[in-house]
Order: sequence, then C-alpha cells, then structure tokens
Amino acid sequence: MSTDVEGVVSEALKLVVPDEEEREKGKRAEKTLKRRLDKALEELSDVSYEFVGSYARDTWLRGNLEIDVFLLFPFSYTMGELEKLGLEVGMKVVDEYELRYAAHPYIHGRVEGVEVDIVPCYRITDASEIRTAVDRTPLHHRWLKDRVKGRENDVRLLKGFLKAGGIYGAEYRVKGFSGYLCELLVVFYGSFVETVKAGSSLRRDLVIDIKAGKVYRKKGNEKLFVVDPVDERRNVAANLSIDNLARFVQRCRAFLSSPSVEFFRVEPVDARGLEERVKRELKRRYVYCLITSKPDIVEDNLYTQLERGERKLFEHLQRLGFSPLRSMSFADDSSCYIFLEVAVKELSPVIRRMGPVFEDEKNVERFLKKCRSRNQNPFIEDGRFWVYSEREIRDAGDAVRRFAEKEWRAFGKNLGECVKNGFEVLEGKFVTKCRNVRELAKFLGLISDTGV
Ligand code: UTP
Ligand code: MN
Ligand code: MN
Ligand code: MN
Repeated sequence: MSTDVEGVVSEALKLVVPDEEEREKGKRAEKTLKRRLDKALEELSDVSYEFVGSYARDTWLRGNLEIDVFLLFPFSYTMGELEKLGLEVGMKVVDEYELRYAAHPYIHGRVEGVEVDIVPCYRITDASEIRTAVDRTPLHHRWLKDRVKGRENDVRLLKGFLKAGGIYGAEYRVKGFSGYLCELLVVFYGSFVETVKAGSSLRRDLVIDIKAGKVYRKKGNEKLFVVDPVDERRNVAANLSIDNLARFVQRCRAFLSSPSVEFFRVEPVDARGLEERVKRELKRRYVYCLITSKPDIVEDNLYTQLERGERKLFEHLQRLGFSPLRSMSFADDSSCYIFLEVAVKELSPVIRRMGPVFEDEKNVERFLKKCRSRNQNPFIEDGRFWVYSEREIRDAGDAVRRFAEKEWRAFGKNLGECVKNGFEVLEGKFVTKCRNVRELAKFLGLISDTGV
C-alpha cells in the first residue's frame, strides 16, 4: 500500500467512524429499546426480536446512527396477523413513529432521539422458506456477524466513499450500493483498499460469488451479479444501475491515481457561482420542466412511474421532431419534476407527408382527392407523391403541455392522476424555480456527475 493511500485512509477514518458521543447515544437507545421490546413481547412468547443491520454489526457510518430491529414470527401466524401485531409492537416501543412500506408495512420511529426501524418478518433458517422479501435479513445478519469482525471500519470507509459520490443506498431514488452489499464486498476483498483496487476493474458481466470465493465473467450478462451467500438465486447488486456501477469504477480509479480525503466528503459547490452558470445556460439552451404534485405512494413505486413518464415524454418529443437531448426526473417532499432538454425549440409551420407510389393508381386517386379538398398541391419525388400540410405543434413547450393534458395516463396510475389534476411547464430561465441547482448543473453538464 502506498503511504499516500495509507495516510489518506487514516485521515478518512475520522470522517466515517462515529465518535464516543454517538456510540453512547446508540447504547442508551438500545438499552431502552430492549427493555420495551421484552415487555411488549411478554404476551407473545413465540415472537422474538433480533438486532440486525449496521447498528448490530457496528458498521454504521458516522452521523447516520440508526437501529434496525426485526420481529421474528413463526409460520403459525398469518401474514395479516404478522402485519397487525408487528405494527402494534412497533408503535408501543418507539417514542414517535411513522408508518413506512417496503415488502409490507413497518414502523419507523425514534427512541431516545435515535432513528429506529421495527420490521416484522417470518423466522426462517433457510432461504428456501422465504415468504416475504424481508425474511432474509436475519440470515444476512447471521452470515455477516462474525465475518465482518475486525473490518467494521473498512465497511465504514466504503460507505463513506460511496455516499460522497451519491451512490450509497439501494433504494430506487439512488440505485446504488446497499449497506449489505458494502459489507459483503469488504468481507470478500478483505479491506476497503482492496475493494477499491478490485473496484477499478469491475465490469458489467462479472459474477462475484461471495460464498464460493470466486469471480468470473459471464458473457452476455448486462448486470454485475453478486451472489447472495444465503440465497444463491438472489443478486445482492440487483438495484445497482449500470450508470452507478460505472461511476463507482471511475471513482475507484481516480482515488488510486490521486488519493485524497475529498473522496469521503460531499464536495461543496460554490452555490452562487453555480446558480449563475446554470441561469446563463438556461437562457441559451432549450430546457423544460414539467412539475406536478407528489402522489402519496411508496418511493420505489413513485420512481417507477416517474421514470416511465419521463421516457414516454422523451419518446413523444422525438417522434414529433424536437430532437430531445436528455431527460431526468426526481421528487422532493411535495412535487415531482421531469426535465427535458431539446435540440430544436421551434419547428417549421409545415410538415411533409408521404403519399403513395405512382403505380398504385387507386391510392393515388384517393390521395389526390384528399389534397384537392384541402386545397393542397402535392408533388412527386423519388417516384411517389408527397404533400405539405400545416404542422399541428410547432413549439416544444406546447408539445410537453399537450402531452401532459392528453396523455396523462402515460405517467402511470398514481402520478397520472396527479398530472390529470394539474401541472405546470416551466421554460428556459424559469426552470430554476425548481430549487435543485446541483441536479440541474449535472443535467446540463456543468459539473461532473461522477464526483471525480
Ligand atoms: P438498512 O437499510 O437499515 O441497511 O437495512 P443497513 O445495512 O443497516 O445500512 P445503514 O448503515 O443503515 O445504511 C437493514 C436491513 O434490513 C433490511 C435490509 O435488507 C437490510 O439488510 N430491510 C430494511 C428490509 O429488508 N426492508 C426494509 O424496509 C428496511
Ligand atoms: Mn440500518
Ligand atoms: Mn438506512
Ligand atoms: Mn433501516
């Protein structure tokens, strides 16, 4: 290991390892939570609980303390009972809570000021018994618990390295690396630095078989496959997008060629300067933003609809001839945004339509008749008839508005309803009304989206 890398890593540890105060806070919450869980489960003697996730393995990232507790039910409980009781117990043991949804509803709350997830699942000993997507989690914990010992801070370095690059988290909004994937990679490669070395030559057709200790290429695979050691059918990297894999690989290469502690910090952008540059670009380019309200649905579901709508709108503009360059979408607490940039803002008032080849007498007759009735003069080119007619939509902004008015169903079940009920299309410099300057800057290519 070059002293350079070594020095940077020991500096970076200060950014990713929690301090004593944070640890103490965790311990206090853990104690209270255990006491409350023991009490709440007194009457449910066949239901147990288990601390899983990064708190239980001492691998959480500094400043991101969060405790995950799973409630383990035997199969004698129906799914309905499991959900109902799971929520009841969850609500009893936390100070303040909100309902969240994954495979099924669970409780997210706080205990002594610490974030807590309480998730009900079935108690299984083998992946073949899985009934809900979360049942695997306690198996994950058992598999990792001892293997990750002594490498906790390597896991933290990797999480910090990814988080600073905007690619930590498997949720749909991020499409990056889950905490579990980070831990598996560190166990597999042995350390943070070894993971980064291997990371710089990852490719989309690799299979990393953690349990077998093997890496190999599989021709034709379009996605990195990390075989779950507790369930060989499952790809732990299933939610990692190809673009974020590419960002990771490039980040690893950049880190090795010039190691710096900046790889563990979210790089601060000079907000004012950037906003000015964004505004200047928006004035000379053709950018649109469709805004609608945010439906109250699970995040994964929302992003599926949002991305589908974005794609449909892009394809629509393509069909009409506006030559879209790029699109992106995201949501904040209250609204959904779809951005589009086009190469052509205004099209000619006329469009040329294709008629039949001259040999096709019947259709030629029909075509000419139609043209006469509309007062149009067809012309012949390359052995067939053509005619100019008035173009219906000339302006790209109008095209976006018309699409949202008429094709709101293209945005999916829930988002579609929102679009139907109301939307706004911002153009050019008004696009900055959406406050996410950083995302806009990336979208316009003004700052790097790899973080290197
Ligand atoms: P977390 O998202 O809390 O991940 O899920 P983590 O490993 O603890 O990492 P950080 O440090 O908090 O970011 C904990 C475990 O619970 C499962 C995940 O698969 C993970 O193994 N889980 C969590 C679910 O299955 N469903 C959920 O809704 C939440
Ligand atoms: Mn967690
Ligand atoms: Mn988390
Ligand atoms: Mn969690």
